[in-house]
Amino acid sequence: MTDISFSNYRKNDIHGVSLYPATMIAPVQHIILANIFNENNISSVYDPYHGSGTALFEAAKLDLNCNITGCDINPLAHLITYSKLKGVTQKIKDDIQSLFDFIEKAPEYDFEFHNINKWFRADIIYSLKKIRWAITQISSKRNRAFFWIVFANIIRKYSNSRSSTYKLHIKDIVDINKLQNNVIRDFQKQVENNYQKFTLKAPNVTLLKGDILKMSRKLGDRSMDLTITSPPYGDNGTTVPYGQFSSLALFWINPKDLNLEGWELDNYSKIDRMSLGGQCKNALTAFGKTLIAPYLNQISADKQPKVINFFADYFVSLDDICRVTDKYIVMTLGNRTVDRININLTEITSQYLEFNGFILVETLSRDIPVKRTPRKTSKVGNEAVSSMNEEFVIIHNRQ
Ligand SMILES: C[S@@+](CC[C@H](N)C(=O)[O-])C[C@H]1O[C@@H](n2cnc3c(N)ncnc32)[C@H](O)[C@@H]1O
Repeated sequence: MTDISFSNYRKNDIHGVSLYPATMIAPVQHIILANIFNENNISSVYDPYHGSGTALFEAAKLDLNCNITGCDINPLAHLITYSKLKGVTQKIKDDIQSLFDFIEKAPEYDFEFHNINKWFRADIIYSLKKIRWAITQISSKRNRAFFWIVFANIIRKYSNSRSSTYKLHIKDIVDINKLQNNVIRDFQKQVENNYQKFTLKAPNVTLLKGDILKMSRKLGDRSMDLTITSPPYGDNGTTVPYGQFSSLALFWINPKDLNLEGWELDNYSKIDRMSLGGQCKNALTAFGKTLIAPYLNQISADKQPKVINFFADYFVSLDDICRVTDKYIVMTLGNRTVDRININLTEITSQYLEFNGFILVETLSRDIPVKRTPRKTSKVGNEAVSSMNEEFVIIHNRQ
């Protein structure tokens, strides 16, 4: 069995440049992909929930000419993945010099969004505006994308939101006042320290921005040799709020460089509400019902609708993954707790994939060593309840 603990992995590579919640562990995906690539003829890889693009980047690293296809509903995920897969241009050093010059001579200009003064101190806004203006002056789309994703990190670091949670949660005023404004120096350092990691330029990349339940219609039956993904484990609101985490950065980044459908910036939680499990679009099938019934029976009536809504759409998404995939499906999953009941997403998913003709080849597991979501999260009857602390990788092969 493949050892996937990688407990010493510290993200000093490209995957640590721009933070994103609940990312995969790159060496885990790499070793699994390498094993499958070695034994099979794989020329296309698909991630329907690509997030920060960990798996897609690792696939491109193994075979640059591989056809890479991904989808995500979050425009920040889209931008990070685009930047990792497309890299920076040969003129990056010149552009960095120009960028730093532009920061120096940035003019005063009007820029604001709802509650900007709640989430940023006035002097921080002043510095961020200079960087924002400077990036818009760079003509290369690929170099701008790299600058934006570094900028996204700086925005998060210097916002008035606590770093202990992915949700927007205002800091105490003492902590807000204590923050040293090193915005520009910090940004410049991160640019200089990281641009050399963006050297890969994958030629065959298709990134779809939108809801996978709609976007996958663009993909043909059995058009992907291998699907490798990590979907949300439940509705974003009660699991990981990817949208809320990204919202401040999305307000700052020039919309021209974001692949926006138009609704994303309506409010801080719109992306989470539009994500899987947020607004249910499908009904549970009879087979789906039998898989989740043992859990539902133990969950209080008020918590059941969220679980049902999530699984109704999740199963439709799995149907689609099975339709699109020709050979292998690799999924990284965690089991979450609702009302103290551990919902075994791994087992449910495996059974669903087997029902659709994909046989389970291997199940791997690893402890999750570093987590921003505290191990004890929600409360039931005033007692803290454990959140996920182990993740599983299931590998299925078409029969
Ligand atoms: C567990 S994360 C993926 C993390 C990724 N593997 C990485 O290493 O960064 C799940 C992703 O699913 C996306 N997502 C949620 N609902 C979606 C939907 N309906 N369509 C497309 N993407 C969705 C979220 O925006 C999030 O980026």
